[in-house]
Amino acid sequence: MKDILLLETVDSTNRVARDLGTAGKPHGYAVVAGSQLHGRGRLGKAWQSPPGKGLYATILLRPCLEVKEYSKITLTAGLALSQVLEEVCQLDVALKWPNDIYISGRKCGGILVETSSLQGEADGHFALVGIGVNVNTEKEAFLPDLRKSATSLFLESGKEYEILSLFEAIRSRLLQLIFQLAHEGFTDILNKWRERDMLQGKWTQWLTPTGEVIYGESLGVDNNGILSVRDRSGKIHEVLSGDVSLTPQLGGREII
Ligand code: BTN
Repeated sequence: MKDILLLETVDSTNRVARDLGTAGKPHGYAVVAGSQLHGRGRLGKAWQSPPGKGLYATILLRPCLEVKEYSKITLTAGLALSQVLEEVCQLDVALKWPNDIYISGRKCGGILVETSSLQGEADGHFALVGIGVNVNTEKEAFLPDLRKSATSLFLESGKEYEILSLFEAIRSRLLQLIFQLAHEGFTDILNKWRERDMLQGKWTQWLTPTGEVIYGESLGVDNNGILSVRDRSGKIHEVLSGDVSLTPQLGGREII
């Protein structure tokens, strides 16, 4: 396999890939680990990374994109991952903004996109697409507090998957979609992302970065991939970060 660093155990593949990006590794270079000691999720959360059960990988991108377009990489990566899982596993995959992968209402994977400093010469810029997928994980392998909310490809399809082949399919689709983003724009990618949007039209709760909770209906993503939520007073909030989820217990139905 070309342009890939395979490691048994790392702290975080995103950390290793950042060092390699700074050292000049090319577009498409990847770091894949058998397990992570400090796998990182969004918003400072940990990503449980038990040995041999999941895909833990980071793909380095040096896309032909202006800095203001870099935010589009996040949804593009979510679409790439969902398409491959649908094709390989024959499962219906939903996306939760910005890029959680859900199957049958449970989280099966997530993406953590980070960038180098985007100051200075454009040819030094890079993005890191960190991908975590619960592949062959059995129920008991999840920590008890995750057992209800998490799932794996194995639990959903009853089949085990070869992790590196799955990874190669994901890398190849991601590079294809990043090329499309740079040369044809975001419209087609966004439309396909919207078809899988599990929050669209649902009642959600948004935990803002300042710790406030806002309840409202998800209006979906705009042409730049920014999510909007309309609260009960009719005010529309642009969601740039934080955590959005379906209203608990109500499965996304309106709060009475
Ligand atoms: C999330 O859902 O919050 C994103 C999870 C991303 C986890 C992956 S596993 C490989 C890569 N390395 C990390 O430390 N995190 C990402």
